[in-house]
Amino acid sequence: MLKKMSVLLLTGAVAMTMAGCGGGGNDSATTGSGGGSGDNTITMGFSQVGAESGWRTANTKSVQDSAKTAGIELKFSDAQQKQENQIKAIRSYIQQKVDVIAFSPVVESGWDTVLKEAQNAKIPVILTDRAVDSKDTSLYKTFLGSDFVEEGKKAGQWLVEEYKDSTDTVNIVELQGTTGSAPANDRKAGFAEVIGSDPKFKIIASQTGDFTRAKGKEVMEAFLKSNPDIDVLYAHNDDMGLGAIEAIEGAGKVPGKDIKIITVDAVKDGMQALADGKINFIVECSPLLGPQLMDLAKKVVAGEQVPARVVTEETTFTQEQAKEALPTRQY
Ligand code: AHR
Repeated sequence: MLKKMSVLLLTGAVAMTMAGCGGGGNDSATTGSGGGSGDNTITMGFSQVGAESGWRTANTKSVQDSAKTAGIELKFSDAQQKQENQIKAIRSYIQQKVDVIAFSPVVESGWDTVLKEAQNAKIPVILTDRAVDSKDTSLYKTFLGSDFVEEGKKAGQWLVEEYKDSTDTVNIVELQGTTGSAPANDRKAGFAEVIGSDPKFKIIASQTGDFTRAKGKEVMEAFLKSNPDIDVLYAHNDDMGLGAIEAIEGAGKVPGKDIKIITVDAVKDGMQALADGKINFIVECSPLLGPQLMDLAKKVVAGEQVPARVVTEETTFTQEQAKEALPTRQY
């Protein structure tokens, strides 16, 4: 560990302080090399959004497994979808003098103060998965993750193609991700831009389902009650789409037929629903960011230049493609 002695002294104090404060998210034990031998072990503090979706679970596993493989000592904390918990975790990592901080910001705004604190402590920060809207881009070294606007556009392009021969109005309901989060903002914007080119597409209801299956079901039930003529559901992730399928079936309708469904992520459960014809199209968002994150971490700690933006490679899936991909799907 690069700053081993000071970390050892401070870790206990900080752990006690956080336990005393309570409600600071779920801190798990340090993983990785176990702080074993060499003085050159890199220590990373990682603040995760939470465990709201299948995507998030796969992302956490990718980060934890890759840290082990890369020999990076990982201090991991789960913020339970609360920004205040992430800010607390980042401050704790600063106190512990970790070598690098990585985090997936639950929402886009409100990070400047804590990022400035990390910068003043000379600890590099890597954004993973989600962006922040800070004007000062020197507050972080790089941003690794998907292009969420592009994902929204891909969802819109499928819809435009699907209804290209129809002149009838297409009534769309939208389940948004967590309010204020980059994927919710960008997937909404990308989709709206593409379907906006044809006035027959109408978003008749749009509400957050917080990226969870339970909320997706609850909001879809309300949509179904107040809108008898829904043609299409656009859900910002698979989990909300899967919850909505339960609501649609509960209302006596056939998902994938009476109501066409587009989702984002392509986790196994979503892909199975696509293969079964309950979802019609999925835009992939890859959670397997761990290996690239560890490479970037090693470079920034070594003081090497890294690209300001690293975009994840992704594809889309139709029913046939989902059937083909399912047997080897990792998550
Ligand atoms: O930030 C990525 C998004 O967060 C995923 O699409 C969603 O499932 C997750 O909760």
